Amino acid sequence: MLAEQAAEAIAERTGVSRHRVAVVLGSGWQDATAEIGAPRASVPMPELPGFGTPTAQGHVGVLHSVRVDDNDVLLLMGRQHLYEGYQPADVVHPVSAAVAAGAKIVVLTNAAGGIRAGLRVGEPVLISDHLNLTGRTPLAGATFVDLVDAWDPELRALAREIDPSLTEGVYAGLTGPQYETPAEIRMLRTIGADLVGMSTVLEAIACRALGARVLGISLVTNLAAGVTGAHLSHAEVLAEGHAAAPRLGKLLRGVLERV
Ligand code: HPA
Repeated sequence: MLAEQAAEAIAERTGVSRHRVAVVLGSGWQDATAEIGAPRASVPMPELPGFGTPTAQGHVGVLHSVRVDDNDVLLLMGRQHLYEGYQPADVVHPVSAAVAAGAKIVVLTNAAGGIRAGLRVGEPVLISDHLNLTGRTPLAGATFVDLVDAWDPELRALAREIDPSLTEGVYAGLTGPQYETPAEIRMLRTIGADLVGMSTVLEAIACRALGARVLGISLVTNLAAGVTGAHLSHAEVLAEGHAAAPRLGKLLRGVLERV
């Protein structure tokens, strides 16, 4: 299987046979790794079996192996998205490889538009549940995966111990790449979304199918379309990530020290 091949390559290239935790760093999160520590090894993603080249701006496309206390941690700097033309199997391959490489816990991070009133730009929000609105799934065949508590309640509680000001929200995952219309945001609010973005849901489903525990954190990089009347841009998403990096990095480091 391709995930196993990739896991073997990760072990070979990093010199670490098992990584217990993996973190996917999405848009706006790349700078946060400065707080986590110097990598012991780094591998360009395209050199690993089955990995593509992330094309979204702000996605570095490198895998780092870093030791945090007693844990060997994989940092996946960038991800592949449906909007880049990747299939669900490609989108989830890096997390499947990470699980094959030993990850029992996968931390999924992303940038999101804030829908719920009161959410502020620059604020990290724990994902409590999701709406998969991509119309796609990474699963094939009769794979009936339970998604109750898919976003691990104990890991969320741990994150809130580290930062008691953290709130939680429901993340709606769409394909993009266009941002939503104000009417779509009104619809999403009505159906229960607090946050909106273009990633993460397929990876979470794949991780649950493989038995890994999932923690999700969205950085609110903008208020969703129509909330203020402002226009949306990817440059703003990256700039807000840059500004929030120290806080995000401390939060991630705190989580990695305690899991
Ligand atoms: N919509 C969708 N994806 C996003 C947004 C948004 O407003 N902000 C960051 N990623």
